[in-house]
Amino acid sequence: MVNKSDIKILFSEEEIEAKVKELAAKIDEDYKDIDDIVLVGVLKGSFIFLSDLARAIKLSCQIEFIRVSSYDSGTESSGTVKALDLTLPELAGKNVIIVEDIVDSGRTAKFLLDFFALQSGAKTIKLATLFDKPCRRVPELKDIQADYTCFEIDDKFILGYGLDVDQEFRDLPYIGYIQ
Ligand code: IMP
Ligand code: MG
Repeated sequence: MVNKSDIKILFSEEEIEAKVKELAAKIDEDYKDIDDIVLVGVLKGSFIFLSDLARAIKLSCQIEFIRVSSYDSGTESSGTVKALDLTLPELAGKNVIIVEDIVDSGRTAKFLLDFFALQSGAKTIKLATLFDKPCRRVPELKDIQADYTCFEIDDKFILGYGLDVDQEFRDLPYIGYIQ
């Protein structure tokens, strides 16, 4: 059980907004000659990041969502990735950017990258993440890396701006931490 009064601010709304805009500008530049861009948000954690990123990217993007889960409760990953909804439209020939909230152990990212490579038929597949905790990567997934990262952070459990602890605090407009 986490009380709101225990949460310290790690990144303010303004800091997040600036980073998201920076990332959107990079994507606009990298994809300027490319059509058929699809942002695929990974629910639930990426919903706020995806909606801000999609509005900051000037190029037009199709928006899709999938839902996976690797946390049962609390602040430790269950160690397995549960596919809750992997329903996708036809993506053959399209340019997919998977939009994640955070890469931690790397298991979810590995699962998603393999899934899209095998099942989607997309022309290109990239991974954009709001946060990366490289120090938390499990040894066998050390080479898992996002193509676009807003913030690299140390081993802190963070919440807010879409991220939760036990389904709480996703609605905070800033990023906080509890340790
Ligand atoms: P991974 O599979 O261990 O890399 O974990 C990825 C997923 O765990 C993320 O997409 C998040 O949903 C969740 N997660 C990992 N670290 C945090 C955190 O610090 N706060 C909230 N959720 C987290
Ligand atoms: Mg996630």
